Amino acid sequence: MQTIEVVIDAMSRQGAGNLAMELVRADGAALPAFEAGAHVDVHLPGGLIRQYSIASTPADTARYVLCVRREAASRGGSSSVHERLRVGQALTISAPRNLFALQPGSHHVLVAGGIGITPLLAMAHQLQAQGASFELHYYVRSRSEIAFLRQLHGEFGDRVHLHSAEEGRDARQVLPEALEGGADEHQLYLCGPAAFMAHITEAAMARGWDAARIHDEAFAPVKPLASADAGDEATFEVEVASTGQVFTIAPDRTIAAVLGEAGIALSLSCEMGICGACLTDVVDGIPDHRDTVQSDVEKASNKQVTVCCSRSCSPRLTLAL
Ligand code: FES
Repeated sequence: MQTIEVVIDAMSRQGAGNLAMELVRADGAALPAFEAGAHVDVHLPGGLIRQYSIASTPADTARYVLCVRREAASRGGSSSVHERLRVGQALTISAPRNLFALQPGSHHVLVAGGIGITPLLAMAHQLQAQGASFELHYYVRSRSEIAFLRQLHGEFGDRVHLHSAEEGRDARQVLPEALEGGADEHQLYLCGPAAFMAHITEAAMARGWDAARIHDEAFAPVKPLASADAGDEATFEVEVASTGQVFTIAPDRTIAAVLGEAGIALSLSCEMGICGACLTDVVDGIPDHRDTVQSDVEKASNKQVTVCCSRSCSPRLTLAL
C-alpha cells in the first residue's frame, strides 16, 4: 500500500476533548487529491495504525486536517494522538481511501454525532463548493464539545444545526426535519457512534427513506470479529481463483491469517472490518459479512468481502486472488 511521509504542521484544540492536527507532506509537495468522506491510515508511535477521516476541504491538497477525540475507552490510538504527538513530528500515513463518498442527489442531509463531524465537515465543504443543496446536523453532549465551531458558523451559516443533549436536543428528542418526507433524490449521510447511527437510520426508514439513500461510516466494529467467539463459528473453505488452491478456515482463524501464512499477498490495515483495505472481489459463494465498511446494499450484492474479519455462509468462498 502506498504510504506518504508527512509532518504535523499545526495542532489545535477543537472543543473539549478534541485535538485537530494539520498534516503536510514532509517534502513540501501537494498531498494526493481526495473526495469528501475519505480517510487515511495513520501510523502512530508504538506501531498502532488507526483510521481517521479527513475533515478539511478537498479543494486544499496542501494539507489534510484530522481531528481525534480523547476516548476514555481508547484502544491506544486516541491516547497516543493526544499524549504523544507534537507539532513538527514526522508521521507516515496511507493515501486517502474513500468508502463514504457523496452520491448524486438533489439535497444532502449530513448528520454527525460527536467526532463523527470530521468526514461530514469535508462533505459540507465539497457540497458548498459545488453549489449543491445541503444541511448539516451536529449532535453533541454539550456545546463545549463542538469541534470546528467558528468554521461551521463562518462558512456554512444557517445550513448548520447544532443539537446539544445538555439542552434537551439529543437525537432521541429532536430529529432533523429533513427526515420527514425526504424525496427520492435526497441523500442521508451519518457518522457517529453505532447506536446513534442505528437510531437515525431506523427513524429515516420509518419515514420512507430506503436503505440505498442512507450512507454511514462507523470507525468501530459493530459485530463480533471472526475470532472473537469461535465457539459458534463454522469451518469453511476459501478457493484462490487464480491458482485453484483451496484453504480450510477453522472457526478460530480468519481468511486473512490463513492466506497470509500461505504467502498470498493481501492488503491489510485495521484488521477489524472498519477500514476497507482488505476488500477482495468474490467470484463465487456467499460471504458472511462482519465489517462496517460496506453498506447493506453492497453486502447484499456479495461482490466483495473483507477478508480480515468476514466469514462464509456457503461451504466455499472463491476469491479473485
Ligand atoms: S483490514 Fe481493515 S477492513 Fe479488513
